[in-house]
Amino acid sequence: VPDSRVESLIEKALAEAWLPTRDLDWSAEVSLDSLRTPEALCSVSDVPAYRKMSARARDEYRLKETAWALSNLIFGEKRGALLSAQVIVDSIDEQSAADAQFLGVLVVEEARHFEALERYVGEKIRITYPPHSAMVELFRGLQTHRLWQLKLIVGQILFEPTACSMLHSLLVRSEEPLLFEIIRRILRDEARHLAYSYDVAGDLVRRVRGSEKTEAEDLIFESVVSCLAAFLPEGPWSEAQLDAGVCRKAAVEALAKRGVLQHFTSALPTQLARHGFPSERLRDLIEHDLAKKLLGEGGAVA
Ligand SMILES: [Fe+2]
Ligand SMILES: [Fe+2]
Repeated sequence: VPDSRVESLIEKALAEAWLPTRDLDWSAEVSLDSLRTPEALCSVSDVPAYRKMSARARDEYRLKETAWALSNLIFGEKRGALLSAQVIVDSIDEQSAADAQFLGVLVVEEARHFEALERYVGEKIRITYPPHSAMVELFRGLQTHRLWQLKLIVGQILFEPTACSMLHSLLVRSEEPLLFEIIRRILRDEARHLAYSYDVAGDLVRRVRGSEKTEAEDLIFESVVSCLAAFLPEGPWSEAQLDAGVCRKAAVEALAKRGVLQHFTSALPTQLARHGFPSERLRDLIEHDLAKKLLGEGGAVA
């Protein structure tokens, strides 16, 4: 990435800097009704056992789906920040000072994001979940990975855009003013992260060669599976005593119906190819094995 571009992104970030404690009105009364996942977006709206639950139990369940999504986002922001901090250290001799500085700003911004979201969930919703085990495993593996390039690739081409689309869908349906304001500010930061991602990812994936290519393909595939697993609200399912297998199947179908799966099966491989990383093998893996993996067939996600 040309340093001048990176420098202008850094300047913009500093000019737009915000603080959760200073810039948000935490005294605001929050209506839980406006936070429930809409029935049309609910992962189990087609599951008969869910439909048989009382209206009140379903309301309670749909608030938990929102809390589940936010809990996983918070975890992603936290570990994403940590991963970027690691990349700064690992790449110190190979990247420019501007890149290190941009990543430094990014770490601070992700820290603000999880601070704001964590406080919101803790104070206003008061329901939190541990992150999906697949996410925990994924970050653990990435953290110890010897190639910083792959950490950065997965972070920038997968985590950032996935987090953004999750936040975006929360934003468009959010009628709750405080959450809306938090997400609006986060997405303004994320737009800069994505601008950086787009350049840096292309530059990095073109340089992945030989045996590292297979390794990158496997890692990207595993990362896609884990990211999507966070869309399967297993905690709320089990609290509502819904059958996990039935729910998983319904949830994966719902993701396909809403076009979320297609982003990964078709848009992502195409985007990688455009970046100079054409991979029929990865395309095949995603096309044929993604849904199977999510359903827990042949190597369960859960
Ligand atoms: Fe973030
Ligand atoms: Fe980000």
